[in-house]
Amino acid sequence: MSERKVEIVETVLRDAQQSLIATRLPIEDMLPILETMDEVGYFAIECWGGATFDSCLRFLNEDPWERLRIFRQKFKKTKLLMLLRGQSLLGYRHYADDVVEAFVKQAIENGIDIIRIFDALNDLRNIKTSLEACKRYGGHAQLTIAYTVSPVHTLEYFTDLAVQMAEMGADSICIKDMAGIMTPDKAYSLVSSIKARVNLPLEVHTHATAGISKMTYLKSLDAGADIIDTAVSPFSGGTSQPATESMILGMSGLGYQTDLNIEKLNEVADYFKHIRTKYRSNGLLKLKMLYTEPKALLYQVPGGMLSNLLSQLTEQGLEDRYDEVLAEVPHVREDLGYPPLVTPMSQMVGTQALMNVVTGERYKLVSQEIKNYLRGEYGKTVAPIDEAFRRSIIGDDKVMTERVADSLGAELPRLSEEIGEYAKTIEDVLDYALFPQVARDFLGRREDPFYDVPVQEVEVEI
Ligand code: CO
Repeated sequence: MSERKVEIVETVLRDAQQSLIATRLPIEDMLPILETMDEVGYFAIECWGGATFDSCLRFLNEDPWERLRIFRQKFKKTKLLMLLRGQSLLGYRHYADDVVEAFVKQAIENGIDIIRIFDALNDLRNIKTSLEACKRYGGHAQLTIAYTVSPVHTLEYFTDLAVQMAEMGADSICIKDMAGIMTPDKAYSLVSSIKARVNLPLEVHTHATAGISKMTYLKSLDAGADIIDTAVSPFSGGTSQPATESMILGMSGLGYQTDLNIEKLNEVADYFKHIRTKYRSNGLLKLKMLYTEPKALLYQVPGGMLSNLLSQLTEQGLEDRYDEVLAEVPHVREDLGYPPLVTPMSQMVGTQALMNVVTGERYKLVSQEIKNYLRGEYGKTVAPIDEAFRRSIIGDDKVMTERVADSLGAELPRLSEEIGEYAKTIEDVLDYALFPQVARDFLGRREDPFYDVPVQEVEVEI
């Protein structure tokens, strides 16, 4: 049997803790184990970006940039990887190019090696500025396909997307299956198809939600994938990634070798077992996040979206309408041109499906975000949107066809002026650019002992 080297990206510090404990892990709970993690031999550690930035400022009263500098100091051998939502960076709107450029520059200067860049609609125009900035400042740009299933998301579509990413200058490609709905057969054909046309390292990212993730990884490796994302066992499974140790032990007899030091890896696992116990006791780790949810495959929605919908319905005493709402999700997606269900589309589509069911009439109530989306403010959809449907919601409003950020002038000068003396560094200004109110409160508490807006409560529900 031939042997092939496979690389591992560990997700416990970003995706795994984001998926299982709502991104509430503070740096103090990571610090004691970082130097050991550096000895394991991972290809990279995903440790920054995604929701961690928002969570640091909003819930943990922690400077996300200081967290990154600590990682850089502790991880002497291992590359640091972050997740970035293209032109939306780590926030919830499209930012002007000067903000995107400055953010990427500071991320790299503070220690990031690899930036995993994606756009919720796979609209490559929204990836371009961060890609160019990443390359300019010496980062590795991993361009990322947001995977989803729909009649328009064909093998050819995704393969062409990867080819275009390579032509744009990607250093590697990632298939990001945020919902954990990529079946092993689909993974095999997609990885094979991309590897046949794109000569770049290919990474596969999935979630264990639906219970098929290890099969998906194995078939991805069979098809030639170079790197997979896993989480150390105490933070694996459920809505997180499959377990690092199980995956490498299981695949080693099949000819896929890693250079991971299993003893160091066990030390990391033992450490995170204690952390898991702590978060079970304080109620932040909810058991349901660890359940296997094959319905994710049937409805093709991320596990996090399933649990969000259920809790929104439960709050309104409407949990008996859960299946109806789930059945409405594909209708809404179709009306909207089949957006991948990733932030922010997953929240927007879920809320709309819920309103359609609860009001008893489709689109009687429509959120502002959906209206903006139909005005083209998030980018181009893969399937065209029916014009009669669009007009029934936004009337005669203008629909944007150019790149969203092209309509934005430089924003940094105005933002610096607005936040004023609360901002001591460019990083502080960027905090404010991304999360104006939350960052003002964070910087205010830091600068002024009498600033009286407390840190937001961490809601606990057991
Ligand atoms: Co993920």
